Amino acid sequence: MITRRDFIKLCMSTAVSFSLTDRIAPFIQQAFATSQAVRPPVIWLELGSCTGNSVSLENAFNPSIDQLLFDMLDLRYHWLLCAEQGAASVQAMLDTVKQEQGQFWLIVEGAVMTADNGRYNELFIRDGKTVTGLAALQEIAPQAKHIIAVGDCACFGGPAAAHPNPCGAKGVWEVIRQPVINIPGCPAHPDWMSGTLGHLLLYGRPELDSYQRPVMFFGQTIHDLCQRRQQYEDGVFARYPGEAGCLYKVGCKGPVTHADCPLRQWNHYVNWPVKAGAPCIGCASPQFPDGLMPFFHHLPELQTGLMPLNVKKIGAALAAAGAGGVVTHLAASIFARRIHRHYLKGTKPEQPLPPENLEQVKQELDDLIKRQQSLLAEAKKLARPGKRRNKKRLLKKISGFLQPQAPKKDETE
Ligand code: SF4
Ligand code: F3S
Repeated sequence: MITRRDFIKLCMSTAVSFSLTDRIAPFIQQAFATSQAVRPPVIWLELGSCTGNSVSLENAFNPSIDQLLFDMLDLRYHWLLCAEQGAASVQAMLDTVKQEQGQFWLIVEGAVMTADNGRYNELFIRDGKTVTGLAALQEIAPQAKHIIAVGDCACFGGPAAAHPNPCGAKGVWEVIRQPVINIPGCPAHPDWMSGTLGHLLLYGRPELDSYQRPVMFFGQTIHDLCQRRQQYEDGVFARYPGEAGCLYKVGCKGPVTHADCPLRQWNHYVNWPVKAGAPCIGCASPQFPDGLMPFFHHLPELQTGLMPLNVKKIGAALAAAGAGGVVTHLAASIFARRIHRHYLKGTKPEQPLPPENLEQVKQELDDLIKRQQSLLAEAKKLARPGKRRNKKRLLKKISGFLQPQAPKKDETE
């Protein structure tokens, strides 16, 4: 059987013209043939959603969708793809829960509607009574072997939980106690789904980050992988979508979004938002969409007073200096890291609720500005004659402010 390391390399490779499902299918078939793995029974539950993730999965190359759902997995229930419909298909699902307790995998698409006991999302009828998505999830999830949330809505609430969220939409992991593997995206890329399911089949749970996302697909930011990164570094910014140059100033959220879209690309590995001239709107981010709006405004600027950490000034400094590459890189890196850390603070797994609106983000930036002002006041005092002995301490503080320690693993977003 292929080693785990080689499997991960395969998942992370960006060889085009073959879908990831096509590439991993032979190894999975081999594992089945040698009894190193068994086809798991799968229940695919769709809650509050637009079905976009199912459609995205169907966008895998033919015959990948068949390979994935019927050769790699033993799909027992998916309300759209079931041959049977109505009571018969629901019965098949309930039988699976009973007969395959602790063995079946539960894939959830869509947000959990929690308001009014979940009545805004009713899934099926049992014994003459409607069963809500919330009740079905709470009943089925504890009996599953693995729970996989696909798409931003199932992972973090996503667009279904956008303000004012009257249905109380939430991500699966906010509602149940069992561990969940999150595969975000609006929708999730078919490779992210097939690679994660393949890893689960062959080796168990993949390495996950603090948001329970597979590191092999969500380990780096869009910004780090972007083909326009050099233009960002050089201060060459597009003024409107579609123009050449880094799209930061027209709202690109690549610096705060973790996903491998620039390498993997969409629609059969043809293109991705930035390559098509549109800023990344952070659809794979836990904060999507409210925390990343407005989509066409750039990220909040972070004025330190000591180093102008915003792209306008970086660009101007570059033009003036002619060759300010090192300074720009330093400023840009600090900017990206600080914004990244502070913009997304407060959304750790223990407290997975994303900021409700930009006000909370602004509050954090206000705090930073206050700290900056207090440092400046201290610096002014020290500038007076006879007050220089605390200079070293102040410089240390300033350097801590500008270059915070690398965040611990659970603080990286
Ligand atoms: Fe690419 Fe966006 Fe980063 Fe610019 S800001 S380099 S367009 S990801
Ligand atoms: Fe979404 Fe940004 Fe990728 S908008 S598809 S995460 S480039």
